[in-house]
Amino acid sequence: MILITGATGGLGNETINFLLNNTPAGEISALVRDVSKATDLVERGVNVRQADYFDYPSLVQAMQGIDKVLLVSAVAFTDRLLQHRNVIDAAKEAGVKHLFYTSIQRSTNFVMQEVTESDLATETYLKASGLIYTVLKNGYYFEGLTYMIGSEVPDSEILFPAGEGRIAFVKRAELAAATAALLTSEGHDNREYTLTGSEAYSFHDIARELSSLVGRPITYKNTEIPAYVARQVAAGFPEAVANFIAQWGASAKHGMLAGTHDTVERLLGRKPTSLREYLKETYFARQ
Ligand SMILES: NC(=O)c1ccc[n+]([C@@H]2O[C@H](COP(=O)([O-])OP(=O)(O)OC[C@H]3O[C@@H](n4cnc5c(N)ncnc54)[C@H](OP(=O)(O)O)[C@@H]3O)[C@@H](O)[C@H]2O)c1
Repeated sequence: MILITGATGGLGNETINFLLNNTPAGEISALVRDVSKATDLVERGVNVRQADYFDYPSLVQAMQGIDKVLLVSAVAFTDRLLQHRNVIDAAKEAGVKHLFYTSIQRSTNFVMQEVTESDLATETYLKASGLIYTVLKNGYYFEGLTYMIGSEVPDSEILFPAGEGRIAFVKRAELAAATAALLTSEGHDNREYTLTGSEAYSFHDIARELSSLVGRPITYKNTEIPAYVARQVAAGFPEAVANFIAQWGASAKHGMLAGTHDTVERLLGRKPTSLREYLKETYFARQ
């Protein structure tokens, strides 16, 4: 029996969708903290179990009879390490054999606050736990691009603190498909995979592609983090959010998200979505 945590969220829910293609629903469990958000899973016969990463006894209860767990990492700005340790400890106590953890890509040693710090600590804790582990170092979601450049095509300029850095963007659903494939195949004991798109793109590339799709000049200009944050705050964004997005820019600038790996492509059996395809479907689908 496989248990997927974060099953009411994007990655967890999409992973269950892919699992259901070739695994009977009765062999899939979903850990959710709010059962009322999981009616789609109940309807499809998935075994829904209520628990919270902060509530250790609920986690031990939810892990009963489970062989394999996909721990979908907790959200930033909460005590991620405490939550992850609770899940790992509960898995061990309940007799789970193998735990997969969704970490973040690290193509360089840049440490992003609120994300990489707790991912590194979680990986260390997991490896010392005695459980069989598989670490999935997920690339930056294509879906996160709109946070960086806006949900409308920029008029003429993209201002972002990513320097000349590149990102090997990957669609979350393609990460989910790759994750489901890993969960249902053998040979991943104590292994680590970096799951990315097949190409890495700079913000100049993004500006160039948008420009060619929209038919007007759009350029990218690097900006420093304080100026970027001030501009976002003036546009109405909470400062903490602006700072967090800026940190992703800094991560890109320092190469953390730049490496390309062919694991997703091999698991999908095709090239993952390219930048141009993603921009088309996101910004131009209604035209
Ligand atoms: N690689 C990237 O670009 C990227 C970007 C953003 C985030 N991430 C990381 O990847 C994770 C998955 O991404 P996502 O897009 O699926 O995020 P998401 O849609 O926000 O889903 C997060 C899931 O975690 C659950 N959760 C949060 N706190 C919990 C708790 N205390 N106990 C039990 N469940 C809890 C949420 O439950 P509710 O539905 O009840 O809220 C939700 O199901 C994120 O949590 C974050 O760590 C990666």
